[in-house]
Amino acid sequence: MTAAPFYITTPIYYVNAQPHLGHTYTTIAADVARRYHSMNGADTFLLTGTDEHGDKIVKAAEKNGVSPRDYVDRISCLFRDLWPQLNVSCDHFIRTTDPDHIAIVEQILQKIYDQGDIYYSEYEGLYCFDCERFYNTRELVDGKCPDHGKAPEAIRESNYFFKMSRYQQWLIDTIHENPALIQPERYRNEILSFLREPLEDLCISRPKSRLQWGITLPFDDQYVTYVWFDALINYISALGYPDGENFRKFWPHARHVVAKDILKPHGIYWPIMLKAAGIDIYKHLYVHGYWNVDESKMSKSLGNVVDPNYLKATYGTDAIRYFLMREMAFGLDSNFSESAIISRINSDLANDLGNLFSRVLGMFHKYFQGTVPDCMPETGHDFQLDLKADSEKLISDFSGAMERFEFHRALATVWEYIGKMNKYVDVTAPWELAKQKEARNQLETVICNLLEGLRVVSGLIYPVMPETAGTIQEHLGLDPQRPFYRIDEIRKWGSIPANITLPKAVTLFPRIDPETILSPVKPEAEGIRTAPIAPEIGIDDFSKIDLRAARVLHAEKIPKANKLLKLEIDLGSETRTIVAGIAQAYSPEQLVGKTVVVLANLKPAKLMGVRSQGMLLAAVEGDGCSVAVLDRDMPPGTRLK
Ligand code: MSP
Repeated sequence: MTAAPFYITTPIYYVNAQPHLGHTYTTIAADVARRYHSMNGADTFLLTGTDEHGDKIVKAAEKNGVSPRDYVDRISCLFRDLWPQLNVSCDHFIRTTDPDHIAIVEQILQKIYDQGDIYYSEYEGLYCFDCERFYNTRELVDGKCPDHGKAPEAIRESNYFFKMSRYQQWLIDTIHENPALIQPERYRNEILSFLREPLEDLCISRPKSRLQWGITLPFDDQYVTYVWFDALINYISALGYPDGENFRKFWPHARHVVAKDILKPHGIYWPIMLKAAGIDIYKHLYVHGYWNVDESKMSKSLGNVVDPNYLKATYGTDAIRYFLMREMAFGLDSNFSESAIISRINSDLANDLGNLFSRVLGMFHKYFQGTVPDCMPETGHDFQLDLKADSEKLISDFSGAMERFEFHRALATVWEYIGKMNKYVDVTAPWELAKQKEARNQLETVICNLLEGLRVVSGLIYPVMPETAGTIQEHLGLDPQRPFYRIDEIRKWGSIPANITLPKAVTLFPRIDPETILSPVKPEAEGIRTAPIAPEIGIDDFSKIDLRAARVLHAEKIPKANKLLKLEIDLGSETRTIVAGIAQAYSPEQLVGKTVVVLANLKPAKLMGVRSQGMLLAAVEGDGCSVAVLDRDMPPGTRLK
């Protein structure tokens, strides 16, 4: 049976903020689901992108002193360039400013308008500028927006409205007929409970007198369309609706992944928009919870926004992908902390998986000198533990959990199996078998079973940790050209070819000492001796000093200079190279992704043959060195005053 095509989308992210942990989770989850379905032989298509119109974006551009166009180009790139860094491969990256997208939004608006589902009316309502939407009083908490904690403003204006109310009963019936439409169930129930109240029609426009940065309504050039009518349509415009081959092939299989913040637009507005436009609705909507950071909501104003570039540079892509998928139960909120990452890395990755890998390969090299014995793993002594039978159950439990987007459960099943394999080593005690000549066949069987178990594990971790899966498979002599990531291949116990020679194990995940990552530089016990304060200067002397926020894009050691690092930095308007004497205190990886402070108008100088255009600021005392970083994220190039 051939697998059905698989189409998965992430929300398109607003470009008023840089990519953070929340965006990263959703996008990695989509990639994990896509990779899993490709293991079943499906043709897959992953869509992500950026949402670039609206008030918020105009305000953010103004704040940065650039035009909306320049601003959206810059931030959109940060998203587009990040995903491949995290091993997310998207098939299309859509931007709502793309001309093809705009043309399709216009076409759909016109169709719905012509059939009488859009009308013009005056409206007075309570509007939250941060959410960019009207609230009814029932939705407010103590009179304030539940997301932003601010009282919405009363505004009155004439606008265009979409007659959602007309489709309310149809939507209720559709959700009842398709119990798996919205998952997990708690969110389906939430939507059904919204639908118990009469649906208000949706305001879909803004007068151009108030906002220009949007798509002009095809039937009234004094208005632009607003937020959802523009954004949601990306899911079909990206496939070349209405005639594109991709639309025909993938749309009937569409699945959207979002967090609970945008449940209502996806669970109510979008299916109704599709129905009104005469398009079949999506197949599934998967809704996950929110990441909080150190038990509080992640927000710019709290300064606790987690930067995925930092996570990658500090812990590595596979470890981050694993942590995010394992730690959050899909659908529920979860708490992020660096100590939680470190403990997952040390226990699940270094200890359980990493040790098993090096233990098995170590014994294999010791007893068989690295050449796979010719044995029939399914025969022979089983010591009451049957790794083969367990692997069959594992594959089916794993697949069930992945189908339901329960990534945390899927990984838990693999780790249970890893536990069984470790137990199998303890019970079979290959080191004892190795001492007895007559137990040679048994030893062969045990080691072959363990190699096969590792092969199954490597196949199943592939969607979440593709790099580690590849490393393990290379060490098992599997031909990278063959589809060993296919579920039906993974099932075939006994696939590692006999008589081939395998390389020695490497360390998959070094243990992390939390002290090295989480502790600041400690002052000397008797107190810090600092240099005396320099003579006073006037404000005009200070104004000659041009200090800027800069993001470290790349860092490397300078050969033969043990104190110097060469840094590539983004200064907003340009990229520069600077040399910093901090190599004894920082490894290059610790700096990449950080927003540091740079003296930007220092005369360039050559250090060890490298031209340095500026100076990195750091607190330096004795052996202690701490690079100045900004407490809150600011765009590269922002001036410090
Ligand atoms: N532009 C709209 C979506 C339009 S889709 C047609 C938007 N953008 S957003 O930038 O605010 O992204 C919201 C999404 O980012 C969430 O639904 C979720 O996927 C992700 N997350 C943002 N913060 C998050 C957390 N703290 N935790 C988990 N995911 C969150 O809404």
